[in-house]
Amino acid sequence: MAEPTSLSGKVAIVTGAAGEIGLATIRLLAERGARVVAVDRDADSLKRATAKLPASTLPIVADVTREDDVASYVQQVTDAAGRIDIFFNNAGIEGDIAPITNYSLDTFRRVLDVNVVGVFLGMKYVLPVMTAQNSGSIINTASIAGMMGTVNIAAYSASKHAVIGLTKSAALECVQTKVRVNCVCPGLIDSRMLSAIVTGRNDGSPVPVEKAVDRIPARRLGRASEVAAVVAFLASDDASYVSGAAYPVDGGRTAG
Ligand SMILES: NC(=O)c1ccc[n+]([C@@H]2O[C@H](COP(=O)([O-])OP(=O)(O)OC[C@H]3O[C@@H](n4cnc5c(N)ncnc54)[C@H](O)[C@@H]3O)[C@@H](O)[C@H]2O)c1
Repeated sequence: MAEPTSLSGKVAIVTGAAGEIGLATIRLLAERGARVVAVDRDADSLKRATAKLPASTLPIVADVTREDDVASYVQQVTDAAGRIDIFFNNAGIEGDIAPITNYSLDTFRRVLDVNVVGVFLGMKYVLPVMTAQNSGSIINTASIAGMMGTVNIAAYSASKHAVIGLTKSAALECVQTKVRVNCVCPGLIDSRMLSAIVTGRNDGSPVPVEKAVDRIPARRLGRASEVAAVVAFLASDDASYVSGAAYPVDGGRTAG
């Protein structure tokens, strides 16, 4: 098999870095030669996560919903590295698992704040750096919940529909440049978040596989590394003609 395209010399920022998809993506980008800045709100998890990552990984504690935090991490990276080539705008939360009639307004607002405002702010500060250098790839994390309605996670589903809209709009705004903006739409990935959504609990219980795989044509859950592989493709020059796309990584779940 041909060698994967090198990301050597590229500078990448990954948000939601201490989570399962963030971590798998940092590993893969670093393995392909990128220098990665790992951004997460949770200092303890970020410390534990970066201990397992290549020494070149730079951790930064920041909350993607706070404009001053976002401005600051973007400034730190441009001061240190002079450029940003890859931005995996990935931090997200699932919120409550409840029907709309029982859903708390505070949680609804919080989900939109992290998943939509966070993605917007990341692009607001990274795009000027990329357009000035006339290159770069932004990959936002949406979800298959952004492509269809989903029972009991209306706020999450609405937020991920918004991420797809933000992605397409940003891609069009960059059309005169060599900056590309795409998103990945993971399906059911074997992870803490999926377990919380399927079981309605956030206690680390394993995903009840039988229940979850029922409507997946591939008849299995996805792996965080399989999302990372698509992100690495979109980040690379192999995707030079790909912009404004929403890539399902879902074992065929949204195909039928
Ligand atoms: N796991 C799945 O099955 C699945 C499916 C579809 C989409 N996604 C999306 O993939 C992304 C990553 O999910 P994951 O499974 O790795 O989840 P995760 O919960 O393991 O990781 C999310 C990370 O984001 C961080 N985070 C949350 N709010 C933040 C904030 N305000 N500022 C900075 N960091 C913040 C958390 O501390 C955590 O480390 C999310 O956007 C999620 O919605 C996940």
